[in-house]
Amino acid sequence: MFNLLSCLIMPRKLDFIPYARPVLDEEEVSEVVDTLRSGWLTTGPKVNKFEAMFSDFIGCKYALAVNSATAGLHLALEAIGISPGDKVITTVHTFTATAEVIRYLGAEPIFVDIESDSYNISPECIENVLLTHTGVKAIIPVHYAGQAANITKITEIAHKYSIKVVEDAAHALPSTSNNRMIGSISDATVFSFYANKTITTGEGGMVTTNNKEISDRIKVMRLHGINRDAFDRFTSNKPSWYYEVIAPGYKYNMMDMCAAIGIHQLRKAYSYQEKRAVIAKNIAMLLRCCLLLLLSMLLLMIYMHGTYIHYN
Ligand SMILES: Cc1ncc(COP(=O)(O)O)c(C=O)c1O
Repeated sequence: MFNLLSCLIMPRKLDFIPYARPVLDEEEVSEVVDTLRSGWLTTGPKVNKFEAMFSDFIGCKYALAVNSATAGLHLALEAIGISPGDKVITTVHTFTATAEVIRYLGAEPIFVDIESDSYNISPECIENVLLTHTGVKAIIPVHYAGQAANITKITEIAHKYSIKVVEDAAHALPSTSNNRMIGSISDATVFSFYANKTITTGEGGMVTTNNKEISDRIKVMRLHGINRDAFDRFTSNKPSWYYEVIAPGYKYNMMDMCAAIGIHQLRKAYSYQEKRAVIAKNIAMLLRCCLLLLLSMLLLMIYMHGTYIHYN
């Protein structure tokens, strides 16, 4: 009460709750320092290790580290062959990155409504669009706030209409759908390691797939369309400067400095999830208490109002 009064009398800057504060331990710090001392800053052994750990964690064949989920979504759509004039279905409820990558490739996003209980894309609405539109080549469902979209139903529809599925799992590490790990199910899945995500590398992302062709294409396109990365050129049995540029690619590779953080963050993914569940439970409880308090105040006001009318 005193604090509230002093705020009203002497307005001052309030301390806001931070939107997101990453949890970084000494092990992340030492691993980054180790990378800096190693002399290998860009894509190298730590990225390779992070990718191997990630594919084990998800239970998929290939994991490809990139410098953001936006880059990963762009690469995944390119790898499944999205080109100018194609249509790609996605949800109305997401971050801009999900839809902008469709435009990067000259394709047209078709926005589909969400389910009222999960806030995720509605499979029923997807099917309605497919019945009335031609030229749809892919669906990008988003697992909003980490809650898995109905991926079983969505992949079923995709198979029926012979279209691809690229999952935007920027919020969804780790997450499951019908006891299957998100990242192991559809044509490609993209995770984000931006600073406010469930695990972080500062900036970063990962594409997972079980499809060798998609994996090979992303590997080449994430680094200028070059068919050998620098680490491979210097460490293979026959080190050489020689490489071929086989396509006009992008500069989307992850650095070892970021992978150094990711290696340790990934090991703690489940413990972070448990902590967030406890915090969410506490927030929900506090909100219920606030609601009860508001309701009792409202009842009191109604009662007082009644009393006031009575005596008037
Ligand atoms: C749903 C969704 N998709 C994609 C992205 C893009 O992630 P990144 O910042 O790693 O590119 C975000 C980022 O917040 C997101 O929320």
